[in-house]
Amino acid sequence: LRKLVIAIDGPAGAGKSTIASRLARKLGYVNLESGAMYRALALKAIENDVSFDDSASLLRLAESSRIELQPQIDGNRVLLDGQNVSRRIRERDVTEGASRVSVHPPVREWMVARQREMGVNGGVIMEGRDIGTAVFPDADLKIFLDADPTVRAERRIEQNAAKNDEAAAKALREDLLRRDQRDTTRTASPLVPAADAIVLDSSKLGIEEVLTRIEQLIAERS
Ligand code: C5P
Repeated sequence: LRKLVIAIDGPAGAGKSTIASRLARKLGYVNLESGAMYRALALKAIENDVSFDDSASLLRLAESSRIELQPQIDGNRVLLDGQNVSRRIRERDVTEGASRVSVHPPVREWMVARQREMGVNGGVIMEGRDIGTAVFPDADLKIFLDADPTVRAERRIEQNAAKNDEAAAKALREDLLRRDQRDTTRTASPLVPAADAIVLDSSKLGIEEVLTRIEQLIAERS
């Protein structure tokens, strides 16, 4: 069977990581979370006192970094210069930083070049915001996974154990909407479905149905 390249794009909380890791397990593919690379760079910027707005310094920082994604059963282990930063990069300051460093075209070009190298042999599911539009414009299958903002925020609130903390839940909702806004309005590779992407809505379908639908699409292309 041919080893495909599958792109999954969409906003935060649409279920991309869950879908990508479950599909990868079923197919024997690797799943790569491109967002974790932007997060790792944001962390490095925090550690080195580099501003999230300083495009040239961020590029230099990226060029001097070793960012590795190691696919695991339930997501990626992320190494920054050999250090396991998988947990740290999910915290709020890094999440906000990733959203801000990712607007800079030189940063994006550097990331896209690294991400293409990871996909050369196929058998890859990469998730992010620009995988179908910029990283793998020739991907065998492009999914744009969407969901209502309220549903996406509620999922994040569950994941972050902000359930019983109304202030934390409110902050999380606002953060998510702000990052959506930044992703969709930036000039460099904004978050939009590729012209040939198949749009699925995980608030209407549910994760199991989304998986079944994608498996059908893969079978048609293999
Ligand atoms: O997917 P995740 O939430 O980990 O991504 C963190 C941030 O990195 C996103 O908010 C988005 O701004 C940026 N990103 C991007 N392009 C990608 C993946 C992530 O701009 N392919």
